[in-house]
Amino acid sequence: MRADLEVAGPHGPIPVRVYEPAGPAEAVLVWAHGGGFRHGDLDMAEADMVSAELSGRANAIVFSVGYRLAVDGVRYPVPIDDVHAVWRWVTARDDLPARRALGGASAGAALAVATALRTTTPGETVPPGVELRDAPTGAGLRAAPTETGLRAAADRPDLLLLAYPFAHFPTPMLGHGRTLDSVEDMVRNYVGRISDLPPDALPGAARLDDLPPTHILLSEFDDLRPSGELLERQLREVGVPAESFVAPGTTHGHLNRPHDVPDSVDASLGFLAAALRAPRPAPRWLRREGEPRIEFGADYNPEQWPRTVWADDVQAMREAGVTIVSLGIFSWARLEPAERRYDFGWLDEVIDLLHTNGILVDLATPTASPPPWLTTKHPEILPVDRDGRTVWPGARQHWRPTSPIFREHALRLVRVIAKRYAEHPALAAWHVNNELGCHNVYDYSDDAAAAFRVWLRERYTNLDGLNTAWGTDFWSQRYGEWAQILPPRHANGPVNPTQQLDFKRFSSDALKDHYLAERRILREITPDVPVTTNFMVAGPINEMNYPDWAAEVDFVANDHYTRPGPQSRDELSFSANLCGNLIPGRPWFLMEHSTSAVNWQPVNVPKLPGELARDSLTHVAHGADGVCFFQWRQSRAGAEKFHSAMLPHAGRSSAIFEAVTDLGARLRSLSSITTFGRTPSAVAVVIDYESWWAAEQDAHPTDRLRYRDEALDWYTALLDHGVRADVVPVAADLTGYRLVVAPILHLVPAALKQRLEDYVAGGGHLVTTYFSGIVDEFDHAWLGGYPGALRDLLGIRVEEFAPLLDGQSAPLSNGAIGTLWSEHVEVTDPATKVLATYTGGGAAVTRREVGAGSAAYISTRLRPQGLLLILDDLLTPAGVTSELPPDLRGKVELAVRGPVRFLINRTADPVDLSAVAGAPETLPARGVVVLSPETRG
Ligand code: GAL
Repeated sequence: MRADLEVAGPHGPIPVRVYEPAGPAEAVLVWAHGGGFRHGDLDMAEADMVSAELSGRANAIVFSVGYRLAVDGVRYPVPIDDVHAVWRWVTARDDLPARRALGGASAGAALAVATALRTTTPGETVPPGVELRDAPTGAGLRAAPTETGLRAAADRPDLLLLAYPFAHFPTPMLGHGRTLDSVEDMVRNYVGRISDLPPDALPGAARLDDLPPTHILLSEFDDLRPSGELLERQLREVGVPAESFVAPGTTHGHLNRPHDVPDSVDASLGFLAAALRAPRPAPRWLRREGEPRIEFGADYNPEQWPRTVWADDVQAMREAGVTIVSLGIFSWARLEPAERRYDFGWLDEVIDLLHTNGILVDLATPTASPPPWLTTKHPEILPVDRDGRTVWPGARQHWRPTSPIFREHALRLVRVIAKRYAEHPALAAWHVNNELGCHNVYDYSDDAAAAFRVWLRERYTNLDGLNTAWGTDFWSQRYGEWAQILPPRHANGPVNPTQQLDFKRFSSDALKDHYLAERRILREITPDVPVTTNFMVAGPINEMNYPDWAAEVDFVANDHYTRPGPQSRDELSFSANLCGNLIPGRPWFLMEHSTSAVNWQPVNVPKLPGELARDSLTHVAHGADGVCFFQWRQSRAGAEKFHSAMLPHAGRSSAIFEAVTDLGARLRSLSSITTFGRTPSAVAVVIDYESWWAAEQDAHPTDRLRYRDEALDWYTALLDHGVRADVVPVAADLTGYRLVVAPILHLVPAALKQRLEDYVAGGGHLVTTYFSGIVDEFDHAWLGGYPGALRDLLGIRVEEFAPLLDGQSAPLSNGAIGTLWSEHVEVTDPATKVLATYTGGGAAVTRREVGAGSAAYISTRLRPQGLLLILDDLLTPAGVTSELPPDLRGKVELAVRGPVRFLINRTADPVDLSAVAGAPETLPARGVVVLSPETRG
């Protein structure tokens, strides 16, 4: 609904056009069109179309302001006075929604910021009747009077929406010539001069630190784009949340030309509307109705099969108890066979078929594998490896996370898909891309170099900061310009370690940024559908800092594949455990694992009988409320034809399909478990991705150190001891744990040092190991002796590392055997006790008592057998005991969800359970028993 009215202002009435949404209004926007302060009216698209669209898309009442233009002697600050008067009139009304935004385009964006400054900047508000200094030719103009002359918090906008803002003069990076002349003319006309400008005239020059969160829309090909970009950097510098969106293929003022670039205008409006819309709590689990249950299913790739197979697929899914499938993950080439030519017919058919059969869809954005037409047209999206070699198409994930061209094509497709399936009742969740970073995390291309520099600028602000952080006086690496900085490409020796570490941080962030860009569109179009992406918390994979990503997914989804080895099962439990603690207390989704053999190891062995169910149920024991596999039907062709699936080459008449069907029934019987999250234990094993990255860099005392192996050894030793532990990110709240094991906590910034000291001072018991506390967040060594930041807390001092050669060992007084590492540990505090020595002399394991707490140190790698020999000395003072009967300790893993207890057989033999009340007599080899008041599994 649209209506015209007038608002009284200091210079007379101001025309305002009001747009009301069809449904209940949730937000208010006061909007100022652009036109160089001199042109424009309420009918132009940038005023009328934008207001109508934002009103409808964001359920907002939009007030479009017909402010006085700088013509016929009108100059600064009259247009601001007008916008401000309307803003004051709007904010004084108590019949409007509480969420209030100010916004504008181009010159109108400058007016919006200037108006916001009047409401937020202390001391800048003009008391009633006080005359502002007149602009040279604008005689006798007064600022809009305020009632109190003080800043009114009620006036403060909740957010700013700025489209291609013109916020600076001189304008950054504008050269000479026509554009500059016309910009000068625009400023001279508006303010009356081009020097000594009032800070709010082009408000990038003003104090910005009190502004509200700001959303900046940029036109890709716009001489004024640097002004919007600079404004974003300025806002961030002073701590104002700011984000921007570059509308691809557009020029300045593109909202006035909706027919030239319809996709980009649509995306621009979407960006602004998503910001304006009143925030709703993100849905944290699938969009579905009905009773709680554990979801069960797989990746489903029907495009690999003729249509005739689909009906059989769905029938077999029903037989197996499948409730959900992930669809469309690698379908880009099918869905968009040529640029902007879409073919959704087949996907429509599949989704309808699934829906008719009661199967939910976790719909992928098919952006993981770009199609040949895109890489042929734009080979510049292909990643470049460390040695400068192009990563060619032929497999998958051949795209640069930082390529603007890739991003543009991917986001366009995401938007099309989101709109097409937004209302489909089968759509239960969005699955963004696939295993982001599985193959393309480290890209050394020029796009990556440019994005790395932007990232570094945000981190260090100036080159001095970077030079200090990177220690560039070493080997003459000092940078004089940002453009000199490169990713850590192939060099003839170890590359600067902080550069390497920052590149790891940047690469994780770059992929997260891609995820966020897709999520923004999905949230905008389907705010009620949860968004996730499948993590790879498994084995040695560490490139993506998942504890940092976890805040951005509506629920954690993980892919886990076992690798052969004596700790394979424990590793699965360890990974599941960490997934359950990435968003504490929330269920998570096992998005992929295998029914049997994979195809990507040197030798791919099948799972043994019982393993399929045991692996799945171990994830459930650690909080998974969804259990899915890769994939539904084993491929006939392609690189994964020898990878197991729910429906193998052998068909339904197979042991695998039988085990799958049994598992489906078992999960159904466990539905009530979903009410309960993981129950925390008394012991935590801490995982820190930054320490993992830093500890395994090159040019170190040994290249044999493997961070996660040490952490897993502790987990195995605790299981061997019958003690359940939580695997938690280093940022987790540790205060509730009686014992915290932080193996190889290599990178310890001052704040973490303080947290650990506080934890111990508060009565906590900390255990750490060799190569911990060594560097700060810049990878600079803490001085004065090792273990650096933790030296005083541990009450010890080490002068030199003594890593061990392959085959060498360092026996301990308690019978344990150290490998990999040793040290000469000097005890520096009388409260530090030596728990074990090296038989060759010197302390190997120490423990310092600190009030009711303690801090223990293990100076060598003891493997689970050796750790088991010292565990009692660490657990007993912390008051931690096993919750299992003595006979079961080591043989069985216990995991707890509320009143439900899982007993998981860690061995290949049956285990006698007669000591466990309410349990069956025997726990079969590789079996799982679920004990609960109502449930018996
Ligand atoms: C995952 C991937 C799947 C499939 C699977 C095979 O990494 O997401 O698409 O390739 O591995 O194990």
